Amino acid sequence: MSSDIADPSLAYEGAKRIEWADRTMPVLRRIRERFAAERPLDGLRVAACMHVTTETANLIRTLQAGGARVALAASNPLSTQDDTAAALAVEYGAEVYARAGIDREGYYRHIHQALEIGPDLVLDDGCDLVNILHLERTDLLDGVKGGCEETTTGVIRLHQMAREGALRFPMVAVNDTDTKHMFDNRYGTGQSTLDGIVRATNTLLAGKTIVIAGFGYCGRGLAERARGLGARVVVTEIDPVKALDAVHQGFSVMPMADAARHGDVFITVTGNREVIDGTHLAVMKDGAILANSGHFDVEIDIPALAALAVEVHRDVRPQADEYVLADGRRLVLLAEGRLVNLAAAEGHPAAVMDMSFADQALACAWLAAEHAALAPAVHEVPKEIDTEVARLKLAAMAISIDVLTPDQEDYLHSWRLGS
Ligand code: ADE
Repeated sequence: MSSDIADPSLAYEGAKRIEWADRTMPVLRRIRERFAAERPLDGLRVAACMHVTTETANLIRTLQAGGARVALAASNPLSTQDDTAAALAVEYGAEVYARAGIDREGYYRHIHQALEIGPDLVLDDGCDLVNILHLERTDLLDGVKGGCEETTTGVIRLHQMAREGALRFPMVAVNDTDTKHMFDNRYGTGQSTLDGIVRATNTLLAGKTIVIAGFGYCGRGLAERARGLGARVVVTEIDPVKALDAVHQGFSVMPMADAARHGDVFITVTGNREVIDGTHLAVMKDGAILANSGHFDVEIDIPALAALAVEVHRDVRPQADEYVLADGRRLVLLAEGRLVNLAAAEGHPAAVMDMSFADQALACAWLAAEHAALAPAVHEVPKEIDTEVARLKLAAMAISIDVLTPDQEDYLHSWRLGS
């Protein structure tokens, strides 16, 4: 079985950490047991482009239990955990194309190598694999029954493809399930981003001004966690409703041009480019920390930062580069402007990825059964899957909830019954 990994001897260490993550992924574990009995993916080949973490490893194991053969490429050059990659390749029989810190050319080569499996199903995190299929490996398109997309950025790209009539197979927007974005984007990004910043800098967040660009689910989660740690939180937004929401939650809202002068720590989570540009960088305080938790490394204008700098000190700490400006101010860029939560920490904790990857696994089984009836468009995950995942998670947490009485059911379904 072919693979391209950094060091197979890390497999034992990786397997131990995968097992540790699995302990807090009870929903995915249940689905794995069900898949082993029912084999909903029997004989299918899956090409996945995802962060190579212990949580992803447990998703891959689940797909394999369902009967799939899986090839996995990394969805970000800095997020790969080499021990996890080794365990997946050596212990779990997946084809893995992932090495931490790989260059741009290697990153794309790995996606191409994963596609060599000739996929029936694809799993993507950011839409790079689906893009390459549509632009460079059109010979494989006819074989693809469908796929799943994990992230907000990827779903936006898929909608653009569908609008232009370019999308050639059904894609399921796993990101849009409630059990994914209400928890993973919010609590996962909130915690893991601050985890990454703290690991990279060991900075004290209490009393600091943290500027958060973007108040979607990710930005909201971050703002809540940062406030919880004692930071003063400033939000920047382009959407009036989201800005108003931030104001009503008690956060300061202002344009980045103003926030740039005040922030001690800046975090971008918008999904857009140059949210922090040269004009913002030029007025920041000495020692300001810059981090991105959006999918791509375009949110902080790094070429502008490099142009402003007279000196760059690489790796002042792991995942922290210091840019010295002409007047002596120092700006600290974390994780080269890439996903700080996955590059400087371990990504979202397993307990929250449990729901996201349960959605992924069940969406794959649904696609395998239903693909022939699905148009080449972006599809929502059926509501029953979302509800099922929430129900299983509550059960795993030993939390019961009320059920409607027959009278309450009638009341909800009849417009004749008044107040
Ligand atoms: N995205 C964010 N956190 C992640 C994790 N732990 N594993 C895979 N993908 C992720």
